[in-house]
Amino acid sequence: MVMFLDLPKVPLPGPRTMPVLGGKISLMRFLGDPVKNMLDLREEFGELVALSKDDPGWVCAFGSEFNREILSNPALYPNFIESPIRKPADSAAATLDYNILVINGDLHRSKRRVLMAAFTKARLQAYGEQMVEIAGRQIGRWRVPGAFRAREAMTDISLEIAMRCLFGLGLEESRALCTDSARIMDLVLSPAAALFPFSLPGTPYREYMTCSERVDGAFRRLITARRAEPKEDDVLSAMIHATDDDGEHMTDRELVGQAATLFNASHDTSAMTLTWACLMLATHPEIQREAAAEVKEAIGDAPPTLEDIERMPKLGWIIQETLRLFPATPNLFFRRSSADSELGGRKLPAGATFILSPLVTHRDPKVFPNPRRFDPKRWDGLRLGPYDYIPFGAGVRRCVGAGFAGQSTRLVLATFLQRARIAAPRPQRIDYRAKGVVLGLERDFDLELLSPDQDIPAPEPIGGTVERLVEFRA
Ligand code: HEM
Repeated sequence: MVMFLDLPKVPLPGPRTMPVLGGKISLMRFLGDPVKNMLDLREEFGELVALSKDDPGWVCAFGSEFNREILSNPALYPNFIESPIRKPADSAAATLDYNILVINGDLHRSKRRVLMAAFTKARLQAYGEQMVEIAGRQIGRWRVPGAFRAREAMTDISLEIAMRCLFGLGLEESRALCTDSARIMDLVLSPAAALFPFSLPGTPYREYMTCSERVDGAFRRLITARRAEPKEDDVLSAMIHATDDDGEHMTDRELVGQAATLFNASHDTSAMTLTWACLMLATHPEIQREAAAEVKEAIGDAPPTLEDIERMPKLGWIIQETLRLFPATPNLFFRRSSADSELGGRKLPAGATFILSPLVTHRDPKVFPNPRRFDPKRWDGLRLGPYDYIPFGAGVRRCVGAGFAGQSTRLVLATFLQRARIAAPRPQRIDYRAKGVVLGLERDFDLELLSPDQDIPAPEPIGGTVERLVEFRA
């Protein structure tokens, strides 16, 4: 597969670019800050926009209707994912790329079923107990009153939850894996590794290969250990024992690729969702007070269970509203059409690649009035079409971990509100970082922890690029 195909021009709105390298440059520019670019393109050109005018190579298809047309037809619009870095087929780096994201059709359906076996209701129940134990222990160590670094704190909780539930590992054992995986993500996006793919000492490419070898080795050792001594209650053990449509178990190579994907897909998305939720609670004290009162009334100081969180609608709305404004993946993975297609009355050639966006979808004022306002109450009785709200995607590739993430974020937040209040007492600049897959931060930010009986002060102004995403009211 290739990132850029030479496709015939068709009339499509979009920014004008240079004739020869225009398509490539516009994609590079787009990927530098997809969030700003998608919002700008939507505003200036509408719902169907080429990154480079009249070039069907890369096209944004914004809004519920295009979500429906594309996501409900995976045969015509299969997933398109391509690593920009070349690598030998038998390398550790190639093994890590061998995962659910790169397959389509029947093979995808069969392998996905194997993964889903690890997320049954009974299993989610068991993970729920572990989630509460981890959140309670970590939050119990915080100094209240005191200050906390939002992302760091939420990452520690989400990482420990992911590592324990997915792989039966503790936080300290997983730090090296986390550092290497984050580095691989950075290197995959570094032009230096893509443009000079030779494993010479000191090059980014060599670092990419050695980080991949360490991650591959760590997962292989873990798989060997779980085979020798199975655990009842982690996702990896469930995957080792599950079989696909042909009754086959996953090979070690498949297990490594799938395990690495689950690891990457799970902790950062959940950590950032909780980080944004903390920011919203700190800057909306009234909403925080109401949610804390709901938790107190439902369970007092008892550890929350899955049944309990069903009785806390306000908590659920806070997470839903956070994922509306700050969807962890602001754009989905790409879809490339397998045949000629027609969208919005425009004929597009086979090979056109589409960018779909939960972030832009969630800002349609017809569905979500005052879309930049953080307003969890809007969810009370809200009726939505199936493609109006897609933080976890939709259709055959809907997030495998949606239930896991939904319950972990709510359980953590309930535990948090039992023990502390959050405030934003200093003016701060907060800049999002949208390079890569997850909507992250340029720099972590500080919030203040108060004890539950302290009053939450009015927030000080927040500036920075985060203001593109949410309106902070005085
Ligand atoms: C707030 C947290 C999360 C969000 C917002 C999120 C979002 C998404 C989205 C939007 C997709 C679909 C991408 C597409 O259609 O191109 C997806 C896919 C996926 N997610 Fe999540 N995710 C989250 C947490 C998790 C967790 C906790 C796990 C695993 C434990 C996970 C595992 C996966 C996997 C394996 C896929 C690929 C599914 C497939 O291709 O069939 N995610 N996620």
